[in-house]
Amino acid sequence: MSKIKRIGVLTSGGDCAGLNATISAVVEAATKKGWEVYGIKDGTEGITEKPHSYEVLTISNFSDSPWPRLSGSYLGSLNKGLRIESLEEVSKRFAIGVKELGLDAIIVIGGDGSMNIVSNMCKGSLVKIIGIPKTIDNDTPITEFSVGFQTAVQYCTTAIDSLELTARSHNRAMIVEVMGRDAGHLALHSALAGNADVCLIPEIPYNLDGIINKLKEIKRRGRNHAVIVVSEGLKTENGTPITSNKNMVGETIYGGIGQYLCDEISKRYNEFQFRVTTLGHLQRSGVPVAFDRLLASLFGANAVELLDKGEDNKMVIWKNGEVSYVSLPEVVKTGTTLVNVKGKYVSAAKELGMYIGEI
Ligand code: F6P
Repeated sequence: MSKIKRIGVLTSGGDCAGLNATISAVVEAATKKGWEVYGIKDGTEGITEKPHSYEVLTISNFSDSPWPRLSGSYLGSLNKGLRIESLEEVSKRFAIGVKELGLDAIIVIGGDGSMNIVSNMCKGSLVKIIGIPKTIDNDTPITEFSVGFQTAVQYCTTAIDSLELTARSHNRAMIVEVMGRDAGHLALHSALAGNADVCLIPEIPYNLDGIINKLKEIKRRGRNHAVIVVSEGLKTENGTPITSNKNMVGETIYGGIGQYLCDEISKRYNEFQFRVTTLGHLQRSGVPVAFDRLLASLFGANAVELLDKGEDNKMVIWKNGEVSYVSLPEVVKTGTTLVNVKGKYVSAAKELGMYIGEI
């Protein structure tokens, strides 16, 4: 048995479906061990800012409520990055906050960026940390799946299905822009599930002729419509990123590659009418699908179990069909998981005749 009396749980980074189910699993498992759970508000800010912002979460006030079934984050989350030069300063405030709140451990539900930042903050204090991976981008290292990804894939696939039907009515090629700033997992999984004709991801170079040739082939076969799925992080043919803005710490905000492709393709080929749909932040919401709820329950329970066994600086993962864990420094060292361009998903796309770029 550990000496833990009180833990904090927080969500950090862009939200996704399944966060509340994860928080709930943590609350249930920790409460059963007799620990108190502080739900920290707005990522780490509930600890670093004053007055500290938190809520005592119990089975009856949180897990028994409808919240675990809803998306968003009950606790609020931060997705605005952190200037590296301010990390030292924030870490000092974090250590003070942890002490003032009397936290023995923190469970961080976040992506790879959050794992890096919060594990660094923890170095200056005695608090233990366990990470739970979440992101619709599914690019958190080592784990095969993160909470939120499958719900986003479901959302994108449903959108592809709907767009395919209207495309049929109007002789159109629908371009669907999905999220995924560095990695194309979301685009690739939903393109495979939704039988898209073209899938373009940041990891694989492409050219406009390749896309047009695919569209011509579809026409030759007598089909009057097509669906093209594109990751927001895809660059132009010559490598220029299409971005709409920068956030307050200078990180790129993507958006617009779908329209760019639409403009460029329609200049050269007009056998289809082209239309663009950007799925945007809708991908981060919706009712969490069963697999995300399953991950939430397994990850939450296992994170608490790890703390109880005295573990620290670890992240729970899903690998080979079960829950396991790795060290957080290994997660940070490994960095963002990109699509394996030699892997089975890419080769299946090719086998199915999808144009996935010049590979
Ligand atoms: O990290 C997930 C993600 O959804 C990315 O795919 C996307 O680029 C980003 O968040 C958008 O974040 P926001 O608009 O909330 O800053």
